[in-house]
Amino acid sequence: MADSTKSATLEIDGKKYELPIFSPTAGPDVVDIRKLYAQAGVFTYDPGFTSTAACDSTITYIDGDKGELLHRGYPIDQLASKSHYLEVCYLLLYGELPSPAHLEDFESRVTSHTMIHEQMMYLFRGFRRDAHPMAIMVGVVGAMSAFYHDSTDINDPWQREVASIRMIAKMPTIAAMAYKYTIGQPFEYPRNDLDYASNFLKMCFAVPAEDYEVNPILARAMDRIFTLHADHEQNASTSTVRLASSSGANPFACIAAGIACLWGPAHGGANQACLEMLKKIGTPDRIPEFIARAKDKDDPFRLMGFGHRVYKNFDPRATVLKQSADEVLELMGIDDNPILQVAKELEKQALADPYFSEKKLFPNVDFYSGIILEAMGFPTSMFTPIFALSRTVGWISQWKEMIGDPQLKIGRPRQLYNGSTMRDYVDIENR
Ligand code: SDX
Repeated sequence: MADSTKSATLEIDGKKYELPIFSPTAGPDVVDIRKLYAQAGVFTYDPGFTSTAACDSTITYIDGDKGELLHRGYPIDQLASKSHYLEVCYLLLYGELPSPAHLEDFESRVTSHTMIHEQMMYLFRGFRRDAHPMAIMVGVVGAMSAFYHDSTDINDPWQREVASIRMIAKMPTIAAMAYKYTIGQPFEYPRNDLDYASNFLKMCFAVPAEDYEVNPILARAMDRIFTLHADHEQNASTSTVRLASSSGANPFACIAAGIACLWGPAHGGANQACLEMLKKIGTPDRIPEFIARAKDKDDPFRLMGFGHRVYKNFDPRATVLKQSADEVLELMGIDDNPILQVAKELEKQALADPYFSEKKLFPNVDFYSGIILEAMGFPTSMFTPIFALSRTVGWISQWKEMIGDPQLKIGRPRQLYNGSTMRDYVDIENR
């Protein structure tokens, strides 16, 4: 972090405290409060972390007002149109776009790790067939620390590298197996002659009874969805991975914690919730009823796929996904898809409504992704597992950055305590 060139003055009870200010390469300045409690005996209070920078990172930058998303400085719309997921993985992990030779080596290392330990198959059998695939993924990914002991020592850079490659390589296999298990079909093994996205589609949709040809346009759309979900600064699940990792827990356990957090409907579970909402709306004439509910303070209903903690403009990922939705639906011959029609009309009516425009509530990444995934043949229960698969490289990259920081400290927030002050125990006969 660059040296501080200015400071903020905080005055409490007549006493002044100088707090260093650091200026980043992009985004708001930060006020360094690390010594505040020791100097002034006070905490700051920010339960939703709306005004708190929890770390110093060089991986992803978001400008919510401009609707900008950069991975190591490269805009997401350029990466989505010119790059591909494994190249973006390399960029997030190592900080630069790879040379042809480095990319070939990286892709070869990922490909050679796509199978999982055969004994892990039995973990799936412990779940009911109607288990949500996210429940299976949390369990199986956490259990990886019981199978890959040679890449759990976080202090060994080589083991960190192996764990990173293993996670990126095995997540599609685990996600596809979770899907196959819930539909009662046999697992499909990964193939080394397929690219990352094609491999995932094959493991999900191939059956032993016949040959399966991956549609290259669907593979491209799948790869683009992976790329658009790869990383997103210090979102809730990434912050969960960072906090879990700060205790020194092994990488597989920390990624499992990230998967659990992502599952929530306010976060990665929104893509499933959004499609279910669009289906519940059903036809464009019912949209006003749901918009009214979303605006009603007494109604907990929210428009899923709308709003974002950071984006107060369009989510640039939603813009790209909207284009992909049209392409995939046209390819699948469902360009009159009623759900897409409801989505486009809902977006139009919501954005024309002052409630949404004034609160800067725009479609986010989850608004269109579900439409594409459903058109590709995935059930809604697989939407968040696909988000988790895609985000694994972001979690791993942020984990590596944090673990590699010599100033790493365990994350331990304090609190604003409003409970009972000290009082003596009362024996039960006196209560
Ligand atoms: C992701 O952080 C990330 O980067 C996440 C993510 C990533 O890539 O990792 O981008 C992925 O999680 C995208 C978000 C997916 N979630 C949803 O689509 C669920 C619906 N959205 C909301 O739950 C909400 O918008 C959040 C959780 C996304 C953001 O909530 P904030 O920033 O805490 O905002 P808020 O809840 O304080 O809302 C501000 C106001 C409130 O009204 P007031 O109390 O000020 O009157 O806007 C209202 C909210 O009631 N509001 C909505 C709304 N979202 C916010 N009203 C109706 N519908 C909505 N969707």
